[in-house]
Amino acid sequence: MSKDMVRQNGKWEFNYEVASCFNDMLSRSIPLYEIMRKLSNNLAGEYAIPNTPILDIGCSLGGAIRELNDDFELSNTFIGIDNSMDMILEAKKNFKNRTNMMFIRHDLREGLPEIPAPSVVLSILTLQFIPVEYRQKLIKEIFNALREDGAFIFVEKVLGNSAEHEETFTKLYYQLKEENGYSYEDIKRKRYNLEGVLVPSSTEWNCEMLRTAGFRKIDIFWKWLNFCGWIAIK
Ligand SMILES: C[S@@+](CC[C@H](N)C(=O)[O-])C[C@H]1O[C@@H](n2cnc3c(N)ncnc32)[C@H](O)[C@@H]1O
Repeated sequence: MSKDMVRQNGKWEFNYEVASCFNDMLSRSIPLYEIMRKLSNNLAGEYAIPNTPILDIGCSLGGAIRELNDDFELSNTFIGIDNSMDMILEAKKNFKNRTNMMFIRHDLREGLPEIPAPSVVLSILTLQFIPVEYRQKLIKEIFNALREDGAFIFVEKVLGNSAEHEETFTKLYYQLKEENGYSYEDIKRKRYNLEGVLVPSSTEWNCEMLRTAGFRKIDIFWKWLNFCGWIAIK
């Protein structure tokens, strides 16, 4: 696994350089990363119905579905969607011997592509990169696409409920990144790169979008300061 040495100028891009070190970047940038992965995997395993598709939107290198496939050896088709050609090419390379895994380059601003009804949809740290005005429509499409009783597993960076909490959570998050080996300069540069690209909403607003889309049972399964994971059942 290559070490994350990415230094971008201008707006953040999911390019070849990022794809090459993405696993290291995620493991050092996402708090409680292994726990989040394990929980979303285990939940997906609970709801995956044999012989149905599992869809991962904003799949990057397919890390979420790879672990699912390894853990459960389910008789499912795994479909990963991402608009970064570099991510899709790298994902295809990583899984070239897996006949039940498929990666599609697609821009989620155009909605979901047509696929047979999935029993599980994963969105792990993806919606935060889709402009706010597309998010409700996309969640509604996910709801419509899912089978009855299907699960949406949804992880996002979130805003604190007050300016004070936002500031404190962000400070502690940057502290964690320093502990994980990022320099003050790295953290500051990435913060500027991500401005206007990664746009988080509040926990409540995300929850409201799930309710508005029609999800009946909604719970938070993972939370660390300004990161949150939900499971929502159709
Ligand atoms: C933080 S990464 C997701 C990590 C991944 N879900 C995982 O669990 O390893 C966000 C991904 O969303 C993708 N993305 C951003 N905007 C998108 C869009 N409009 N359509 C499709 N994918 C998009 C990016 O290319 C990137 O790979």
